[in-house]
Amino acid sequence: MVFYFSGTGNSQLAAKQIAAELSDEMVSINHCLKKGEKKTFRSERPLVFVAPIYAWRIPKVVAQWICATRFEGNQNAYFVLTRGGGTQGNAAAYAAKLCAETGLIYQGLASVQMPENYIALSAAPSESECASIIARAKPVFSKLASQIGQGKPFPKIPVSLVGRFISGPFNPLYYRLYIKDKGFTVSDACVSCGKCAKRCPLNNIDMAEGRPVWKGNCTHCMACICGCPTEAIEYKSISKGKRRYDIMKE
Ligand SMILES: Cc1cc2nc3c(=O)[nH]c(=O)nc-3n(C[C@H](O)[C@H](O)[C@H](O)COP(=O)(O)O)c2cc1C
Ligand code: SF4
Ligand code: SF4
Repeated sequence: MVFYFSGTGNSQLAAKQIAAELSDEMVSINHCLKKGEKKTFRSERPLVFVAPIYAWRIPKVVAQWICATRFEGNQNAYFVLTRGGGTQGNAAAYAAKLCAETGLIYQGLASVQMPENYIALSAAPSESECASIIARAKPVFSKLASQIGQGKPFPKIPVSLVGRFISGPFNPLYYRLYIKDKGFTVSDACVSCGKCAKRCPLNNIDMAEGRPVWKGNCTHCMACICGCPTEAIEYKSISKGKRRYDIMKE
């Protein structure tokens, strides 16, 4: 069973391809989080978790969701993370730790470069660069699907001291200092379509008098700012003039 979390569609695309190649079911963690139900899943096939890398680890919301969910049947867990222009750091160690805590059998973590979506911090590549990055990623997803299909664990990747630091003590510090929704603003370009509120996986946006209001529980997934059809949302002045990146399919 292939589970995915995605803000702007990279991990959704990866999950779709892997699920299709494994002829397996796909479950949206975004939808599960939005509904807020505690669920039990049963699968005789390996569990594949697909998500973006956030601050050199699996997103905190995904780790929390895995902890709160029951998985029956096959307990082998693979992690496929999409990353932007950065690295995976020591993300694998934290995925292995999560498995040890939840009773899942860790089968490895692989990260694959996809277009950078973090426009509240850096910039997304041009349209043509995005197309080449995605074209390079697709055969890698195929290779990973084939390894999962054959029941082979993903190979271990050596981690530098810097990698240990950024995934280790720096990750919680980064969440505390930077992952906040206070920087979001909305301009008069807003047409009150409600897409931002509908897309937010954490239900962190209410519509008040036709405008989005952020409620303080944000994971910086970029779904609201990148999905807005009129580019009415900005993050401080950092996102101004930047290309929005969004390939998410509903
Ligand atoms: C909050 C946040 C943190 C991120 N941290 C990293 C990172 O540590 N390393 C990296 O290479 N990319 C990082 N990125 C880029 C995304 O992981 C990458 O663009 C991913 O493919 C987006 O997937 P999605 O479209 O499924 O949301 C980050 C993006 C966001 C929004
Ligand atoms: S998605 Fe954009 S246009 Fe639609 S309600 Fe949100 S801010 Fe307004
Ligand atoms: S408020 Fe925007 S960035 Fe924050 S979790 Fe919701 S959709 Fe993602």
